[in-house]
Amino acid sequence: MKALVYHGPGKIALEERPTPSIEKATDAVIRITKTTICGTDLHILKGDVPEVTEGRILGHEGVGVVVSTGSAVTNFKKGDHVIISCITSCGKCRYCKQGMYSHCTDGGWILGHVIDGTQAQYVRIPHADNSLYHIPEGLDEEALVLLSDILPTGFECGVLNGQVQPGEIVAIVGSGPIGLASLLTAQFYSPAKIIMIDIDANRLDVASKFGATDTINSSYENAVERVKELTEGFGANTVIEAVGVPQTFELCQFLVAPGGRIANIGVHGAKADLHLETLWAHNITITTRLVDTVTTPMLLKTIAAKKLKAEQLITHHFSLNNIPNAYNTFSKAAEQRALKVIITNDEKITHEVEHVNRKTSLVGVD
Ligand SMILES: NC(=O)c1ccc[n+]([C@@H]2O[C@H](COP(=O)([O-])OP(=O)(O)OC[C@H]3O[C@@H](n4cnc5c(N)ncnc54)[C@H](O)[C@@H]3O)[C@@H](O)[C@H]2O)c1
Ligand SMILES: [Zn+2]
Ligand SMILES: [Zn+2]
Repeated sequence: MKALVYHGPGKIALEERPTPSIEKATDAVIRITKTTICGTDLHILKGDVPEVTEGRILGHEGVGVVVSTGSAVTNFKKGDHVIISCITSCGKCRYCKQGMYSHCTDGGWILGHVIDGTQAQYVRIPHADNSLYHIPEGLDEEALVLLSDILPTGFECGVLNGQVQPGEIVAIVGSGPIGLASLLTAQFYSPAKIIMIDIDANRLDVASKFGATDTINSSYENAVERVKELTEGFGANTVIEAVGVPQTFELCQFLVAPGGRIANIGVHGAKADLHLETLWAHNITITTRLVDTVTTPMLLKTIAAKKLKAEQLITHHFSLNNIPNAYNTFSKAAEQRALKVIITNDEKITHEVEHVNRKTSLVGVD
């Protein structure tokens, strides 16, 4: 099968790899129909996630069709149309019993991290019964790719941990797909204002269309002063960090109102300063979280009911053959005006251009 393989910082290649098969009774093998690229994959390419070793197939998001199941899988059968959760969970260990699937003692975020992932024609999913979700008849599978990771992440790590409340003020630093997922799902709770901060003018325009009441371009505006102006000097009640660099985590600490919450979502590859010299007296809460994907069934209902229009986040389409280009586009999101890029596993196209890719598949992404 074709798969996108990591070869150390900045290097990926589309390669021929063996099709995965059932290794344990609890596994399922899925034929991927659609997958996508996450900001976390870009962190991997920067070398921020050293557990990802050379030779790993990347990707932790996708939808597809079950092609085989191990003997212990009871919730899914061959032919079922499924969403793959970015978090693998056994459903039985002490963390799973607490609903903290991200820390499953035999799972967590492993796909495209420590086991081969979804940016391929097929993927093996351990603990399939608890790590896959049925796609209801009649729903557009493409939009559901966003349920693998970004919608539960924006909602759980940002909105739930940040305790967004009706009538309050939310500031979101980072207007990428994750920040936008927080923006969309924060609106379940009717906050009075949602202020989006980014350095990319296009993404801020998108945020305005998705319901941001105010936007701040911190490449030329002073975000701290503007948030003060917009909040009568108090700051925001919930501040969500959706970038993953020290500078933006620090910024959040200057945006939060006394009594407020900072909810970190970003994957950080470097240490960041904590300004306890001011914050010690401000009664604030700081949360961190790896997405648990426990809210996926609820979010699926909101999409089915058209309360959450996930498809708005999709800007580009590529075939799996062209996935190195999809990486190029996603990593130059500002100039390409990219949000989520959808990659389709179209086997027919794959075979036609196979010989071209064999010669030219090693690509550098900066
Ligand atoms: N905690 C989790 O479970 C989890 C899950 C998935 C993703 N993430 C992380 O969430 C973060 C966001 O993901 P994404 O897919 O939206 O990434 P992305 O790279 O597409 O978006 C990041 C956004 O931040 C903006 N930005 C960069 N530097 C900035 C700065 N100095 N000030 C303001 N804005 C700035 C960029 O312009 C971009 O719009 C990443 O760190 C990703 O790894 C965390
Ligand atoms: Zn992700
Ligand atoms: Zn578990």
